[in-house]
Amino acid sequence: MKSFSIIAAVDAKRGIGIANKLPWNLKGDLDHFRKLTVGQFDAGRVNSVIMGRTTWDSLPAKFRPLPQRLNIVLTRDPAGFVPAPNVLVAKSLDEALQLAEQYGSGDIFVIGGASVYAQAIVHPACTKLYLTEIQQTFQCDTFFPGIPPAFHETSRSDSHEEGGVKYQFVTYEKA
Ligand SMILES: NC(=O)c1ccc[n+]([C@@H]2O[C@H](COP(=O)([O-])OP(=O)(O)OC[C@H]3O[C@@H](n4cnc5c(N)ncnc54)[C@H](OP(=O)(O)O)[C@@H]3O)[C@@H](O)[C@H]2O)c1
Repeated sequence: MKSFSIIAAVDAKRGIGIANKLPWNLKGDLDHFRKLTVGQFDAGRVNSVIMGRTTWDSLPAKFRPLPQRLNIVLTRDPAGFVPAPNVLVAKSLDEALQLAEQYGSGDIFVIGGASVYAQAIVHPACTKLYLTEIQQTFQCDTFFPGIPPAFHETSRSDSHEEGGVKYQFVTYEKA
């Protein structure tokens, strides 16, 4: 099975969401997310983004499906999912990974939310975490899982600041 990465923005207490929204508005982080997940689309490589149905619902209609990426939505009730053009639906993480391998031609990213991160981070094929680490705490009701000890930090960017909020782009890889 092809390896895949997780990408997430987390606060100082691993918070990632509140009321099915992002707790912050960081344009620099959204640009970073877009750049990484779109990747080499212009060169003909289509990356895949796998997300839970709740995260799909949280995307504003005008921004979904995320352009220039193969969007795969996880749901246990595919019949209840309102079909959208260019979106694939999977009933398990392994099925989503298989679809990504079959129909995408580039890298595979799991993009949330909490329940999908929790399953993905312990999956043997998950080899890389791209975390935006925000250096303060927000009110959150959804949290990123603990990072298993097999992952080691391999890069950390300089600190960025937007509206008084500081953050760094950090990469962890499995040894
Ligand atoms: N900070 C970040 O980087 C980031 C990124 C993404 C999301 N978020 C936040 O995370 C929150 C959403 O997270 P969440 O945990 O509530 O929801 P979620 O993980 O996005 O979606 C949960 C849903 O996904 C489906 N699902 C999950 N695992 C499945 C499996 N193994 N097989 C089939 N379907 C499966 C189920 O859908 P059905 O109910 O349809 O069966 C489940 O109810 C929001 O606040 C969002 O803003 C933050």
